[in-house]
Amino acid sequence: MPEASVQKKKIVFSGIQPTGDFTLGNYIGAVRNWGRMQEEYDCVYCIVDLHALTVRQEPKAFRERILSSYALTMACGIDPEKSILFIQSQNPHHAQCAWVLDCYTQFGELSRMTQFKDKSAQHADNVNAGLFTYPSLMAADILLYQAHAVPVGDDQKQHVELTRDIATRFNGVYGQTFVIPESIIPKSNEGARIMSLQDPLKKMSKSDPNPKAGISILDPPDAILKKFRSAVTDSEARVAYGPGKEGVSNLMVIYGIFTGKTMAEIEAEFAGKGYGDFKTAVGQSVADALSPIQDTYHRLMADRGYLEQCYREGARRAMAISGKTMDKVHKKLGLIL
Ligand code: TRP
Repeated sequence: MPEASVQKKKIVFSGIQPTGDFTLGNYIGAVRNWGRMQEEYDCVYCIVDLHALTVRQEPKAFRERILSSYALTMACGIDPEKSILFIQSQNPHHAQCAWVLDCYTQFGELSRMTQFKDKSAQHADNVNAGLFTYPSLMAADILLYQAHAVPVGDDQKQHVELTRDIATRFNGVYGQTFVIPESIIPKSNEGARIMSLQDPLKKMSKSDPNPKAGISILDPPDAILKKFRSAVTDSEARVAYGPGKEGVSNLMVIYGIFTGKTMAEIEAEFAGKGYGDFKTAVGQSVADALSPIQDTYHRLMADRGYLEQCYREGARRAMAISGKTMDKVHKKLGLIL
């Protein structure tokens, strides 16, 4: 078929930070959806190591984390031939474009970002400029690939909104340069928010100091079962979905995702049974689902040559696209190419 008659797919961009092991929440809320989008869209996925520098990292552990995040993303179903999967710092256009966008982003806009306010309170001893300009680097990530859609969790929606504002402003001054992206938030019962196992009112987070609060994708089966058995529920001993039963509801959502069962089916399955059976069943469904991912991950980490080949090729393909945007931007600004 001649190139011109091929229907062009829309472009998706998303990124994940290489900090800590991915949790079950990251998998369900983000990376699992990334995998599902690979047929419908042309996908560009990125391990955003530069964003992670806004917090102090220990170099040796950081390098290993970047690689393991790359391998884990592949193990979760991102095919580096179908999609572009690369490491942010391996493509210099991101930092380059971020500087330009910094000059089109207002101090007031960045000051209003909830993530900045939260993180600067959390890391009061290191409120660096990178933490402040984090959103314009994220805007560069997205805009460099002319992405139409950005799958993100709830907490990143504000950053995508700002990206749209920056892009619209730039286009307004210089003429059509960037595609204006939209965020795609996964439907909530598909796990946009998987909650902590110890405090079901809090999102399951990689940085939770309580190790029982979150499941890492790499947790062995016995650790997974143990954490689910000690998950916080309520004193009612009734498996039912709804308000006031946030702990049980969270477990039901997780179980539903891995078994394909509806909330009503799960209620029926455990009617008259206590939480013990239920928690074990949820834990087992998670352990079974994660086991093939873990196998693939360990195989990839044992083959560093192949991993390197994948991320170098990913960066090369990413740069071929972002380079065109960068040239366009520089030209519009009046810089000399
Ligand atoms: N800020 C995102 C997060 O913490 C990660 C990220 C960086 C990202 N660049 C991106 C997500 C571009 C989507 C698109 O989760």
